[in-house]
Amino acid sequence: MNERDKSPLWGGRFAASPAEAFEQLNASIPFDARLAPYDIRGSIAHARMLGEKGIVSREEAEELVRGLRAVLEEVEAGSFEWTLADEDVHTAVERRLRGIVGDVALKLHTGRSRNDQVALDLHLFVRGAAGEIRAGLLEAMRALAEVAGRHGDLILPGYTHLQRAQPILLSHHLLAHFWSFARDLVRLDAAHESASVSPLGAAALGGTPHPVEPALTAEALEMRPLVNSLDAVSERDFALDLLYACAVLGVHLSRLGEEWVLWTSAEFGFATLDDAYSSGSSIMPQKKNPDAYELMRGKAGRLIGNLNALLVTLKGLPLGYSKDLQEDKEPLFDSVDSVLAVLAVLPEMLRTASFDGASMREAAGGFALATELADFLAGRGVPFREAHRAVGELVRRCEEAGSSLEDLPAEELSAVHPTLADLPRELLTPVGSVANKKSPGSTSPGSVEEQLRKARELLSSSTARGPEPPVR
Ligand code: ARG
Repeated sequence: MNERDKSPLWGGRFAASPAEAFEQLNASIPFDARLAPYDIRGSIAHARMLGEKGIVSREEAEELVRGLRAVLEEVEAGSFEWTLADEDVHTAVERRLRGIVGDVALKLHTGRSRNDQVALDLHLFVRGAAGEIRAGLLEAMRALAEVAGRHGDLILPGYTHLQRAQPILLSHHLLAHFWSFARDLVRLDAAHESASVSPLGAAALGGTPHPVEPALTAEALEMRPLVNSLDAVSERDFALDLLYACAVLGVHLSRLGEEWVLWTSAEFGFATLDDAYSSGSSIMPQKKNPDAYELMRGKAGRLIGNLNALLVTLKGLPLGYSKDLQEDKEPLFDSVDSVLAVLAVLPEMLRTASFDGASMREAAGGFALATELADFLAGRGVPFREAHRAVGELVRRCEEAGSSLEDLPAEELSAVHPTLADLPRELLTPVGSVANKKSPGSTSPGSVEEQLRKARELLSSSTARGPEPPVR
């Protein structure tokens, strides 16, 4: 057996090299290579700490840092050679480092294990991803506020049970999504926060006899140091936090997507997407499909699935590293990539869509105004239940006669209830109905103006987080 055939990491104890099929199963290189910049950044912090604590000499530490920077350059230039035999990104980087700086590379792993190393890489990834998603989401929120501001006068029906319920301002509707997204920002920030802990110094699980100083590495990485080494290598809560934030955001995006699929259908006819954000059919020449919104709805499935996948992976694990934890990466990467792909499209797709104000308004009239009649009566002292019943009967009669509420002659209205003789006819229009709302947070133009002001305030006070700081 040739020494080189065995794993460079743990080959010492083994007489034979791994079977090819096992190597395939065991290797994380195909998906964890993208962690290389984080891995190198963590190693640089670790090498510097080793030097400062005298665990390696200052010169050795400098040599390690120089070599690690050179490895990063190769990774960034795309010239780094990845091989499955390296098993994972950590080993690959260390192998290349040895190629560049020689045997001093063999000292880098002092006081460290792949267990705290991989946990650190993932913390850094999650922190960066939470920041990136946050920036994309803020852009989508900016677009919602812009479109809401631009179309302050458009009215569509609000729905309950997907039945026309009451007229509402389009801007009110768009801002409702804005506030869902505002809560997503809070969840993303929570993931950012829980990812800001450095597990370095935990070593395999119980710490190390070397005089490492976790606070030093943590500080260099702008993180808090670990408190309990066993917890530090075992927990993936920060990854769950991000997966949860992505799953809830995915559900919000999906609900928005579903509405646009409806709105752009001939049946609704409320909106049209710009050609740049729609696709055609290979057989039906007339088709213009809202694929992007369908994908937005469709991706919620995998976002929820990815959160479940990691929850289930973690559920039965005893504390300490188990190889099961390697399964944390693909769901996490998939959620981040999926959410970012959608957020890259959504803002411009919203900004470039056009609305058909006339069909919206038409759908917002008719029986969607019935509550207005009942509320008018209640405002004049008629008990609400009684008013509700009287208007309900009127609606039934109109349905039977095929007539509409708006066109009812005054005599017919007062026949239902004498007080309706005083009804200002304006109330029986979508414009009059929304203008008549008095409660804070309502769909009245004044209230929506206030909501828009608050939305803009939130946008101007939310500074985007930058990407993870570059390696120094
Ligand atoms: N590729 C591994 C992972 O993704 C790295 C950690 C390996 N640690 C170990 N004790 N085998 O989790």
